[in-house]
Formats: sequence, C-alpha cells, structure tokens
Amino acid sequence: MFIGLDLGTSGLKGVLIGADQKVLAEATAPLTVQRPHEGWSEQSPSDWISAAEAVLDQLAAKGLGQVRGIGLSGHMHGATLLDKADEVLRPCILWNDTRAHAEAAALDADPRFRQLTGNIVFPGFTAPKLVWVARHEPAIRDRVAKVLLPKDYLRLWLTGEHVGEMSDAAGTSWLDTGKRDWSDELLAATGLSRGHMPRLVEGSQVSGTLREGLASRWGLPKGVVVAGGGGDNAASGVGVGVVRAGEAFVSLGTSGVLFAANDGYQPDPATAVHTFCHALPDTWHQMGVILAASDALNWYARLVGTDAAKLTGELGALQAPGKTLFLPYLGGERTPLNSASVRGAFTGLEHATDRQAGTRAVLEGVTYAIRDSRDALAATGTRLENLLAVGGGSRSDYWLRLIATALDCPVQLPVAGDFGGAFGAARLALMAATGAGAEIASLPPIARVIEPDPGLKDAFDAGHARFRAAQAAIKDLT
Ligand code: XUL
Repeated sequence: MFIGLDLGTSGLKGVLIGADQKVLAEATAPLTVQRPHEGWSEQSPSDWISAAEAVLDQLAAKGLGQVRGIGLSGHMHGATLLDKADEVLRPCILWNDTRAHAEAAALDADPRFRQLTGNIVFPGFTAPKLVWVARHEPAIRDRVAKVLLPKDYLRLWLTGEHVGEMSDAAGTSWLDTGKRDWSDELLAATGLSRGHMPRLVEGSQVSGTLREGLASRWGLPKGVVVAGGGGDNAASGVGVGVVRAGEAFVSLGTSGVLFAANDGYQPDPATAVHTFCHALPDTWHQMGVILAASDALNWYARLVGTDAAKLTGELGALQAPGKTLFLPYLGGERTPLNSASVRGAFTGLEHATDRQAGTRAVLEGVTYAIRDSRDALAATGTRLENLLAVGGGSRSDYWLRLIATALDCPVQLPVAGDFGGAFGAARLALMAATGAGAEIASLPPIARVIEPDPGLKDAFDAGHARFRAAQAAIKDLT
C-alpha cells in the first residue's frame, strides 16, 4: 500500500492505494487562506500539520500496516521560513500572494533569472518573497536558516529532514531548471546560499523515512519511505499519466492550469508560460497558470449567496455567450499578463442580466483566460490535441462543454475517482518504494469525451475576441 498526501490551498487530501493502484481509501481536511491585506495570501504551517494528522487519522481506519511508501504533493511557490531550530518564523506566503511584485520586477530585470530558470520571476514565486521579507521584516529575515516549500515542510514533520524535489524547486526562481540543481548565482543575488535550501531529489526517489513516533501513532510498519513527490501540478501530471510529450491536462482548481508534458527542456519566458522540471527524472513540462479558476466561481457564488455546484447545476445546455463578459483577475494574473495589479471586471451588464447570465459569464471568462494560456503554449510550439480535465471544476458538465468548444479541443473526463495530486503523489511513493518508473503512470480510464460543439465555435471565437479587447482596455486600470 502507498499513501499520497496533497496539500491543496483549500484542503489537504489523502489517498491510500494498493500495489495495483486501486484507491482503497480517501480522506480530506479543510484549510483556509488568510488575506490580512490586499494582495496578501497566507497560511499557517501548523494548520497543515493538523490537517495531515486529521487525514492520517481517517486513513488509519483502513489499517495502514501494509504501507511501504508515502508521497507528497502541494501548492507551489510558498515561502515557509524556518529558524535554525526549525521553528516557523511567520505565516507562509502563498503562491497567489502578489505583495512582492516590485521585488519580482527587479529580479526579473536581471537577465540571469530568466536565462537560468527559464521563467519570468513572477510575484508569486518564492525568491521575490524573500527579498520582500528582507525589506519589510528584517528581524525575521535575519533569523531565516531554511526556506522550504509547503509540502517540504510536511516532509520535515514526517521524516525530520530538509529535502526538496525538482518540480517544486523549479517554481522558486532559484533553480537552474535545465541542470536540475540550485543556482548559487541566483541564490546569492537574493542574499542566500545553498545552505538555506533543502537538498534536492527527483520526485520518484526516496527522500527519507517516516519517523518512528509517527509510524507507531498510525500503525505503519518501520522503514516506510517518503518519496520526493511533486508540486501539485507535476504530481497531478503523474496522477493522470501526463508524463509524455503530446499529453496535456486542464486543471480547474483554485487556480486554473493548462499543463503539457515535454520531450525536453524548452523554455520561452517571454510568453509567460511556466517551464518547470517534471516530477520524473529527465522530464520537463510547460504550463499556463491563471490565478483564479474555481476561485472566481466560488467568489461569485458567495456574492449571490449560494454555492458553486448550485450555480453550475442550474445552467442546462451550453449556450452561446451573452453580452456580459467577466475578466477573472481577482488577484492579478500570471499567464499571459504577468500583472499583479490588474483586477477583474464585469462588462456588458444590462437590466436583463440575471444570476445565471452572471454564472455563464464567470465560466466563460475563466475559459477565455485558459484559452489565452493555450495560445501562449502554442507560441512556444506546444500544441494540444487532447485534454484531460481534472480538479473540482471538472464536475460541471457545462464548464467542460464550454472548454471543449472555446478551445476547439476534445476534453476527456476520467472515470469517477481521484486522479489528481494525491493520486500522483501515491504513484510517486510506489515508484520510490519499488523502483518502478514512468511506465506505471498510465492514462486513466476515460468515462466520457466531450467534443466541441461546432455550432457554437464561431460564437465563442467572437466572445474570446471581445474578451481580449476588454482585457486590453482594463489592463492598466488600477
Ligand atoms: C502553479 C501555481 C498553482 C499552485 C496552486 O504555478 O501557482 O497552480 O501550485 O495549486
């Protein structure tokens, strides 16, 4: 048996799988995000541990005596700052926190960052956050002994060791992404050194073993290995079998991600596409990232006093876009805008606009933003022929039809079950414990293929053109 733990933004999820990869048990524990100031987004690392304890309590009901490995997945880019006794110095600054935009722009202006990391230094990435802390919280910065990514803090709790892995490390702006190693030069450019960083392994390698106290607490045997794991998107890639060139998925989670596996390392930072190491040795991937996907729908649901499932459930068949447009930039945007200051908008509101028109506009706006990522990927030479859908938003049929039609690409929906980050992490645990490789990361069985609606394609092309015009108009409004 193998356990996968996925530290998501809105909750921690655990799965238990057998050697045949069948899911034996699943468990979740909710997490919240604190936004004490505009543009800030934080979580307390002690809440991650409590959530992991709750999830392991639930999984332990199944009996964990046969477990051989644990894999980790987690939201990327967060700065978890520890002193030399491994005490947490401040709340973790998360991936969708844009406070470090000025620091990011300054680092990005140093050509070495794009050259070595293959990426823009986005405000949500880890390095600019450390520069922000040095500037605004110097007493804390002086005490920083280690910088860990969120799931690597869970690993520290599980194994007692400071270890990171390539896919998540690639989102820090400190990794030489082609060489798969920390860049001493980039670390030095932010006043840090290799000593502040965890040692690196590949996602499918062993990073340590479960501490005995924890093993006996939940009835696991001695010597359970903890795999490197992956950033949540790379781990999801392993979970849905997107590990070979030509395969891709769209993730409709808090963020929206259009993810493609690549043959080799092919960075193109000017497009705002992210080029990161995959969680398997010698593989890389690209992705366009939008900051608010389900997050935008949940925001709208709160606004109109209901929940997202109710809103999408009342939509019926896919309709051509109406007059109302929504731009989903609730907290800035990464691909393709790279803007911390851009904010969302509704345009084309009229007396007839009702709640459903609003829901459709929100889904369309997020979909157009994903189409922008598709265009950015195409500009790097990466084309999508097939798209698997994962994440909470993929439960909406309306949204899947919309994506298939607006991106003019069939969308494959896996059979019911979890093929996301937690399952990918469990697969990485299986690899680390048994020596298996990419061959076990097969594509999931497909329940349905959602084809584009040819009758609505032109309408959504026109809708996307209006979206682009509105985007250009509001881009510099603050
Ligand atoms: C990827 C990114 C998000 C987070 C949260 O670059 O910032 O997808 O990993 O899921």
